[in-house]
Amino acid sequence: MKTKHLIDIKDFSKKEIDNLIKVANDIIENREKYSHKCDGKILATLFFEPSTRTRLSFESAMLRLGGKVLGFSESSSSSTAKGETLGDTIRVVGGYADIIAMRHPKEGAPTVAIKNSIVPIINAGDGGHNHPTQTLTDLFTINREKKRLDNLTIGLCGDLKFGRTVHSLITAMMRYKNIKFVLISPKELKLPDYLKELLDNQKIEYIETNNIEEYMKDIDILYMTRVQKERFFNEEDYLRLKDYYILTKEKLKTAKKDLTILHPLPRVTEIAKEVDNDKRAKYFEQAYNGVYIRMALILKLLEEK
Ligand code: CP
Repeated sequence: MKTKHLIDIKDFSKKEIDNLIKVANDIIENREKYSHKCDGKILATLFFEPSTRTRLSFESAMLRLGGKVLGFSESSSSSTAKGETLGDTIRVVGGYADIIAMRHPKEGAPTVAIKNSIVPIINAGDGGHNHPTQTLTDLFTINREKKRLDNLTIGLCGDLKFGRTVHSLITAMMRYKNIKFVLISPKELKLPDYLKELLDNQKIEYIETNNIEEYMKDIDILYMTRVQKERFFNEEDYLRLKDYYILTKEKLKTAKKDLTILHPLPRVTEIAKEVDNDKRAKYFEQAYNGVYIRMALILKLLEEK
């Protein structure tokens, strides 16, 4: 059987995603049942870019399944610093581990990885391109909060150009019924054209605005994002745009009572601390949920292998 990988959220059907959500919910209810499912298995986390949540939640997920973890958290501490190619690194680590979660600054690096891997590869973020396991976390959180993934108006706010979590989330949500998007960004950080073309082709309704308050009353899910400093070509542009949006209690004045506020984190200034106490702020729950959906993902990929 062909090894299954997760490089792009489209690698999984809606049915497979529904099943992952079901398993993740079951893990929350019956933790003990899963605590030895990965006895004897090893996860490698190869992080060529910084991370807190993704790497540690993957490691926590594998440890909670009874498995073990190894890896590195920066390329400077790996033989990449000596000039080793990504393909060679993956070939070698595939002999040390049963499954690999990899984050890389280059878009497309996961495609190189799967060509050289005998074990499942999970894309834990590639440049400004995709971040499918964040999207699984987002879908799981939306489903837990709203009990549905259809019939939602989703506001995405901030850096829609470089924000890979936004790109993956839009790609995933496009497959559900009656989804509308409110795309809130400064003109310099608008959603890439290729994604707008996909929305147009599928006749999915979306509005572009630079005003966070304009459509606040219509939004069910407000997905805030950080301006991605590491993807800017010059610091001057970053400094000009970094505080463009700061979500405050005042800006939420017209929002729905059952709004869900998400953020993939890390947060910099785009959500004021005062919002953390609002019952609608769910970004820390979202980060915790990442462990359970990644447990479900590891189980699925190892079973398929
Ligand atoms: N959301 C997310 O990818 O966070 P980290 O960069 O800390 O992994």
